[in-house]
Amino acid sequence: MTNPQRAPHLPLGEKRGGRLYGQHILSVKQFSREDIEAIFVIAEEMRTMVERVGTFDLLKGKLLASLFYEPSTRTSSSFTAAMERLGGSVIPISEVRYSSVSKGESLPDTVRTLECYSDVIVLRHPEVGAAATAARYVRKPIINAGDGIGEHPTQALLDLFTIREELGNLDGLTVTMLGDLKNGRTVHSLSRLLTLFHARINLVSPEMLRMPPEIMEELAAKGVTLSEHRELESVLPNTDVLYVTRVQKERFADEADYLAHKDAYVITPATLTQAKQKMIVMHPLPRVGEISMDVDDDPRAAYFRQMEYGLYVRMALLAMVLGKA
Ligand code: NCD
Repeated sequence: MTNPQRAPHLPLGEKRGGRLYGQHILSVKQFSREDIEAIFVIAEEMRTMVERVGTFDLLKGKLLASLFYEPSTRTSSSFTAAMERLGGSVIPISEVRYSSVSKGESLPDTVRTLECYSDVIVLRHPEVGAAATAARYVRKPIINAGDGIGEHPTQALLDLFTIREELGNLDGLTVTMLGDLKNGRTVHSLSRLLTLFHARINLVSPEMLRMPPEIMEELAAKGVTLSEHRELESVLPNTDVLYVTRVQKERFADEADYLAHKDAYVITPATLTQAKQKMIVMHPLPRVGEISMDVDDDPRAAYFRQMEYGLYVRMALLAMVLGKA
Protein backbone atom coordinates (compact mmCIF):
# COMPACT_ATOMS: atom_id res chain seq x y z
CA MET A 1 0.00 0.00 0.00
CA THR A 2 2.94 2.29 0.57
CA ASN A 3 5.81 2.79 -1.83
CA PRO A 4 8.94 1.50 -0.10
CA GLN A 5 11.21 3.66 -2.24
CA ARG A 6 9.50 6.94 -1.55
CA ALA A 7 7.48 6.67 1.59
CA PRO A 8 9.05 7.60 4.91
CA HIS A 9 6.39 5.49 6.60
CA LEU A 10 7.08 3.69 9.81
CA PRO A 11 6.14 0.09 10.53
CA LEU A 12 2.65 -0.27 11.95
CA GLY A 13 2.44 0.23 15.66
CA GLU A 14 5.60 2.25 16.02
CA LYS A 15 6.46 5.68 17.29
CA ARG A 16 4.42 8.69 18.23
CA GLY A 17 0.87 8.68 17.00
CA GLY A 18 0.92 4.89 17.12
CA ARG A 19 0.11 2.56 14.33
CA LEU A 20 -1.30 5.03 11.82
CA TYR A 21 1.52 7.55 11.95
CA GLY A 22 2.58 8.46 8.40
CA GLN A 23 0.26 5.85 6.87
CA HIS A 24 -2.10 6.31 3.95
CA ILE A 25 -5.73 5.42 4.60
CA LEU A 26 -6.84 3.73 1.39
CA SER A 27 -9.03 0.77 2.25
CA VAL A 28 -10.61 -0.72 5.36
CA LYS A 29 -8.68 -3.88 4.53
CA GLN A 30 -5.63 -2.29 6.16
CA PHE A 31 -7.23 -2.19 9.62
CA SER A 32 -7.12 -4.77 12.40
CA ARG A 33 -9.43 -4.83 15.38
CA GLU A 34 -6.64 -3.32 17.46
CA ASP A 35 -6.30 -0.42 14.99
CA ILE A 36 -10.01 0.24 15.22
CA GLU A 37 -10.01 0.13 19.01
CA ALA A 38 -7.10 2.60 19.04
CA ILE A 39 -8.94 4.96 16.67
CA PHE A 40 -12.08 4.82 18.80
CA VAL A 41 -10.22 5.57 22.04
CA ILE A 42 -8.87 8.72 20.43
CA ALA A 43 -12.22 9.60 18.84
CA GLU A 44 -13.76 9.51 22.35
CA GLU A 45 -11.04 11.87 23.56
CA MET A 46 -11.76 14.18 20.63
CA ARG A 47 -15.43 14.20 21.54
CA THR A 48 -14.63 15.17 25.12
CA MET A 49 -12.29 17.93 23.97
CA VAL A 50 -14.76 19.34 21.45
CA GLU A 51 -17.48 19.35 24.11
CA ARG A 52 -15.16 21.01 26.65
CA VAL A 53 -13.13 23.48 24.63
CA GLY A 54 -14.36 23.37 21.03
CA THR A 55 -11.08 24.07 19.27
CA PHE A 56 -7.57 23.26 20.44
CA ASP A 57 -4.02 23.35 19.11
CA LEU A 58 -3.03 19.72 18.56
CA LEU A 59 -2.42 20.20 14.81
CA LYS A 60 -1.42 23.86 14.91
CA GLY A 61 0.87 24.56 11.97
CA LYS A 62 -0.35 21.55 9.98
CA LEU A 63 -2.08 21.88 6.62
CA LEU A 64 -4.59 19.55 4.99
CA ALA A 65 -5.18 19.61 1.22
CA SER A 66 -8.79 18.70 0.48
CA LEU A 67 -9.03 17.53 -3.13
CA PHE A 68 -12.53 16.60 -4.30
CA TYR A 69 -13.21 15.52 -7.89
CA GLU A 70 -16.78 14.52 -6.97
CA PRO A 71 -19.49 16.39 -5.04
CA SER A 72 -19.46 16.25 -1.26
CA THR A 73 -21.11 18.03 1.63
CA ARG A 74 -20.46 15.94 4.73
CA THR A 75 -17.10 14.39 3.97
CA SER A 76 -15.41 17.59 2.84
CA SER A 77 -16.93 19.82 5.52
CA SER A 78 -16.31 17.33 8.31
CA PHE A 79 -12.64 16.97 7.35
CA THR A 80 -12.39 20.77 7.28
CA ALA A 81 -14.13 21.05 10.65
CA ALA A 82 -11.92 18.29 12.06
CA MET A 83 -8.73 20.02 10.92
CA GLU A 84 -9.84 23.42 12.18
CA ARG A 85 -11.01 22.10 15.54
CA LEU A 86 -7.50 20.68 15.91
CA GLY A 87 -5.98 24.09 15.18
CA GLY A 88 -4.79 23.21 11.66
CA SER A 89 -5.67 24.74 8.30
CA VAL A 90 -7.13 23.54 5.03
CA ILE A 91 -6.37 24.15 1.34
CA PRO A 92 -9.74 23.43 -0.28
CA ILE A 93 -9.79 22.30 -3.91
CA SER A 94 -13.35 21.20 -4.31
CA GLU A 95 -14.06 22.88 -7.60
CA VAL A 96 -11.47 21.02 -9.65
CA ARG A 97 -12.78 22.77 -12.74
CA TYR A 98 -11.16 25.97 -11.44
CA SER A 99 -7.85 24.22 -10.79
CA SER A 100 -5.21 22.94 -13.22
CA VAL A 101 -7.16 19.67 -13.42
CA SER A 102 -9.32 21.49 -15.99
CA LYS A 103 -6.14 22.12 -18.03
CA GLY A 104 -5.61 18.39 -18.21
CA GLU A 105 -3.24 17.90 -15.29
CA SER A 106 -2.90 14.27 -14.22
CA LEU A 107 -3.80 13.06 -10.74
CA PRO A 108 -0.15 12.18 -9.92
CA ASP A 109 0.98 15.70 -10.81
CA THR A 110 -1.85 17.32 -8.88
CA VAL A 111 -1.10 15.35 -5.71
CA ARG A 112 2.65 15.91 -6.10
CA THR A 113 1.88 19.62 -6.18
CA LEU A 114 -0.32 19.52 -3.14
CA GLU A 115 2.18 17.58 -1.07
CA CYS A 116 4.61 20.49 -1.48
CA TYR A 117 2.17 22.69 0.39
CA SER A 118 0.44 20.37 2.85
CA ASP A 119 0.98 17.62 5.42
CA VAL A 120 -1.92 15.34 4.49
CA ILE A 121 -4.14 15.01 1.40
CA VAL A 122 -7.80 14.00 1.49
CA LEU A 123 -8.89 12.77 -1.95
CA ARG A 124 -12.27 11.95 -3.46
CA HIS A 125 -12.20 10.76 -7.06
CA PRO A 126 -14.63 8.98 -9.42
CA GLU A 127 -12.25 6.13 -10.30
CA VAL A 128 -11.84 2.96 -8.26
CA GLY A 129 -8.26 2.78 -7.02
CA ALA A 130 -7.54 6.50 -7.52
CA ALA A 131 -6.41 7.01 -3.92
CA ALA A 132 -4.05 4.03 -4.13
CA THR A 133 -2.65 5.40 -7.39
CA ALA A 134 -2.14 8.84 -5.86
CA ALA A 135 -0.43 7.26 -2.86
CA ARG A 136 2.27 5.80 -5.11
CA TYR A 137 3.44 9.26 -6.07
CA VAL A 138 3.60 11.10 -2.76
CA ARG A 139 5.29 10.80 0.61
CA LYS A 140 2.59 12.56 2.62
CA PRO A 141 -0.41 10.51 3.79
CA ILE A 142 -3.34 10.23 1.38
CA ILE A 143 -6.77 9.67 2.91
CA ASN A 144 -9.29 8.07 0.57
CA ALA A 145 -12.55 10.02 0.86
CA GLY A 146 -14.28 7.83 -1.74
CA ASP A 147 -12.88 6.27 -4.93
CA GLY A 148 -15.81 5.78 -7.30
CA ILE A 149 -17.73 2.65 -6.39
CA GLY A 150 -14.66 1.32 -4.59
CA GLU A 151 -14.32 2.23 -0.94
CA HIS A 152 -15.01 4.96 1.59
CA PRO A 153 -12.91 3.86 4.55
CA THR A 154 -13.35 6.88 6.82
CA GLN A 155 -17.13 6.62 6.41
CA ALA A 156 -17.00 2.96 7.42
CA LEU A 157 -14.97 3.81 10.52
CA LEU A 158 -17.47 6.48 11.53
CA ASP A 159 -20.31 4.08 10.81
CA LEU A 160 -18.75 1.51 13.10
CA PHE A 161 -18.13 4.14 15.78
CA THR A 162 -21.80 5.14 15.49
CA ILE A 163 -22.90 1.55 16.01
CA ARG A 164 -20.71 1.18 19.08
CA GLU A 165 -21.85 4.48 20.60
CA GLU A 166 -25.50 3.78 19.94
CA LEU A 167 -25.77 0.06 20.69
CA GLY A 168 -22.93 -0.32 23.19
CA ASN A 169 -21.08 -3.14 21.43
CA LEU A 170 -19.95 -4.31 18.03
CA ASP A 171 -19.81 -8.07 18.22
CA GLY A 172 -22.33 -10.46 16.80
CA LEU A 173 -24.76 -7.87 15.46
CA THR A 174 -27.24 -8.40 12.65
CA VAL A 175 -26.69 -5.63 10.11
CA THR A 176 -29.11 -5.22 7.22
CA MET A 177 -27.84 -3.21 4.25
CA LEU A 178 -30.55 -1.86 1.99
CA GLY A 179 -30.61 -0.17 -1.42
CA ASP A 180 -27.89 0.23 -4.02
CA LEU A 181 -25.35 -2.31 -2.80
CA LYS A 182 -23.69 -2.51 -6.21
CA ASN A 183 -22.60 1.11 -6.49
CA GLY A 184 -22.59 2.21 -2.85
CA ARG A 185 -18.97 2.45 -1.72
CA THR A 186 -19.98 2.96 1.92
CA VAL A 187 -21.50 -0.53 2.13
CA HIS A 188 -18.49 -2.03 0.36
CA SER A 189 -16.25 -0.66 3.10
CA LEU A 190 -18.59 -1.21 6.05
CA SER A 191 -19.33 -4.83 5.18
CA ARG A 192 -15.59 -5.54 5.00
CA LEU A 193 -14.99 -3.90 8.40
CA LEU A 194 -17.81 -5.91 9.95
CA THR A 195 -15.96 -9.13 9.13
CA LEU A 196 -13.77 -8.29 12.14
CA PHE A 197 -16.79 -8.33 14.48
CA HIS A 198 -18.60 -11.61 13.76
CA ALA A 199 -21.52 -9.84 12.12
CA ARG A 200 -24.48 -11.42 10.41
CA ILE A 201 -25.13 -9.37 7.27
CA ASN A 202 -28.41 -9.26 5.35
CA LEU A 203 -28.13 -7.75 1.87
CA VAL A 204 -31.40 -6.35 0.58
CA SER A 205 -31.41 -4.87 -2.94
CA PRO A 206 -33.05 -5.10 -6.34
CA GLU A 207 -31.50 -7.82 -8.51
CA MET A 208 -29.71 -5.23 -10.63
CA LEU A 209 -28.13 -3.52 -7.60
CA ARG A 210 -26.79 -6.58 -5.76
CA MET A 211 -23.59 -6.44 -3.76
CA PRO A 212 -20.76 -7.31 -6.22
CA PRO A 213 -20.15 -11.09 -6.14
CA GLU A 214 -16.42 -10.64 -5.50
CA ILE A 215 -17.17 -8.70 -2.31
CA MET A 216 -19.69 -11.35 -1.21
CA GLU A 217 -17.03 -14.03 -1.75
CA GLU A 218 -14.55 -11.98 0.26
CA LEU A 219 -17.03 -11.62 3.13
CA ALA A 220 -17.98 -15.29 3.09
CA ALA A 221 -14.29 -16.28 3.10
CA LYS A 222 -13.89 -14.25 6.29
CA GLY A 223 -16.64 -16.27 7.93
CA VAL A 224 -19.48 -13.72 7.83
CA THR A 225 -23.00 -15.15 7.83
CA LEU A 226 -24.49 -13.57 4.70
CA SER A 227 -27.94 -13.71 3.22
CA GLU A 228 -29.45 -11.96 0.21
CA HIS A 229 -33.01 -10.72 -0.15
CA ARG A 230 -35.17 -8.62 -2.45
CA GLU A 231 -37.57 -7.57 0.34
CA LEU A 232 -36.88 -6.10 3.75
CA GLU A 233 -39.87 -7.59 5.61
CA SER A 234 -38.47 -11.00 6.50
CA VAL A 235 -35.17 -9.69 7.92
CA LEU A 236 -36.23 -6.46 9.61
CA PRO A 237 -37.53 -7.97 12.89
CA ASN A 238 -34.10 -9.43 13.74
CA THR A 239 -32.08 -6.43 12.58
CA ASP A 240 -29.88 -4.47 15.00
CA VAL A 241 -28.62 -1.98 12.41
CA LEU A 242 -30.61 -1.04 9.32
CA TYR A 243 -28.13 0.68 6.98
CA VAL A 244 -30.05 2.45 4.22
CA THR A 245 -28.36 3.72 1.05
CA ARG A 246 -29.32 5.99 -1.84
CA VAL A 247 -29.62 4.61 -5.35
CA GLN A 248 -26.46 6.13 -6.86
CA LYS A 249 -27.85 8.01 -9.85
CA GLU A 250 -24.43 9.16 -11.07
CA ARG A 251 -23.28 5.56 -11.59
CA PHE A 252 -26.06 4.57 -14.02
CA ALA A 253 -25.29 4.50 -17.74
CA ASP A 254 -29.01 4.42 -18.57
CA GLU A 255 -31.33 6.87 -16.81
CA ALA A 256 -34.31 4.57 -17.36
CA ASP A 257 -32.62 1.97 -15.11
CA TYR A 258 -32.12 4.60 -12.42
CA LEU A 259 -35.76 5.70 -12.62
CA ALA A 260 -36.92 2.09 -12.44
CA HIS A 261 -34.98 1.50 -9.22
CA LYS A 262 -34.81 4.80 -7.39
CA ASP A 263 -37.88 4.19 -5.24
CA ALA A 264 -37.24 0.50 -4.69
CA TYR A 265 -37.40 0.92 -0.89
CA VAL A 266 -38.79 3.69 1.29
CA ILE A 267 -38.54 3.50 5.07
CA THR A 268 -41.54 5.02 6.85
CA PRO A 269 -42.79 4.97 10.45
CA ALA A 270 -45.00 2.04 9.40
CA THR A 271 -41.91 0.08 8.30
CA LEU A 272 -40.33 0.56 11.71
CA THR A 273 -43.31 -0.90 13.58
CA GLN A 274 -41.81 -4.26 12.51
CA ALA A 275 -38.35 -3.42 13.91
CA LYS A 276 -36.94 -3.98 17.41
CA GLN A 277 -37.14 -1.22 19.98
CA LYS A 278 -33.40 -1.39 20.48
CA MET A 279 -32.01 -1.00 16.98
CA ILE A 280 -30.78 1.89 14.84
CA VAL A 281 -31.44 3.20 11.37
CA MET A 282 -28.33 4.58 9.67
CA HIS A 283 -27.68 6.31 6.34
CA PRO A 284 -24.42 7.83 5.07
CA LEU A 285 -26.52 10.64 3.56
CA PRO A 286 -27.50 12.36 1.34
CA ARG A 287 -30.93 10.72 1.29
CA VAL A 288 -33.12 11.27 -1.73
CA GLY A 289 -36.41 9.79 -0.58
CA GLU A 290 -35.42 6.35 0.76
CA ILE A 291 -36.10 7.37 4.38
CA SER A 292 -39.24 9.42 4.89
CA MET A 293 -38.76 12.58 6.97
CA ASP A 294 -41.45 11.28 9.34
CA VAL A 295 -38.87 8.80 10.60
CA ASP A 296 -36.49 11.54 11.78
CA ASP A 297 -38.09 11.94 15.22
CA ASP A 298 -37.95 8.22 15.97
CA PRO A 299 -35.18 7.71 18.57
CA ARG A 300 -33.91 4.82 16.46
CA ALA A 301 -33.10 7.22 13.59
CA ALA A 302 -29.34 7.62 14.08
CA TYR A 303 -28.36 9.22 10.77
CA PHE A 304 -27.98 12.78 12.05
CA ARG A 305 -26.02 11.65 15.10
CA GLN A 306 -23.90 9.56 12.71
CA MET A 307 -22.65 12.78 11.07
CA GLU A 308 -21.53 14.18 14.40
CA TYR A 309 -19.65 10.98 15.27
CA GLY A 310 -17.90 11.42 11.93
CA LEU A 311 -16.27 14.62 13.13
CA TYR A 312 -14.66 12.87 16.10
CA VAL A 313 -13.48 9.91 14.02
CA ARG A 314 -11.95 12.18 11.37
CA MET A 315 -10.25 14.27 14.07
CA ALA A 316 -8.78 11.05 15.49
CA LEU A 317 -7.56 9.89 12.07
CA LEU A 318 -5.91 13.22 11.26
CA ALA A 319 -4.18 13.36 14.64
CA MET A 320 -2.99 9.78 14.22
CA VAL A 321 -1.65 9.98 10.66
CA LEU A 322 0.13 13.22 11.57
CA GLY A 323 1.73 11.62 14.60
CA LYS A 324 0.09 13.79 17.23
CA ALA A 325 -2.40 11.46 18.85
C1 NCD B 1 -21.69 8.82 0.56
C2 NCD B 1 -20.64 8.78 -0.54
O1 NCD B 1 -20.17 9.82 -1.00
O2 NCD B 1 -20.28 7.66 -0.88
N1 NCD B 1 -21.82 10.07 1.15
C3 NCD B 1 -20.99 10.41 2.17
O3 NCD B 1 -19.78 10.45 2.03
N2 NCD B 1 -21.54 10.61 3.37
C4 NCD B 1 -22.96 8.20 0.18
C5 NCD B 1 -23.69 8.68 -1.05
O4 NCD B 1 -23.24 9.59 -1.74
O5 NCD B 1 -24.74 8.10 -1.30
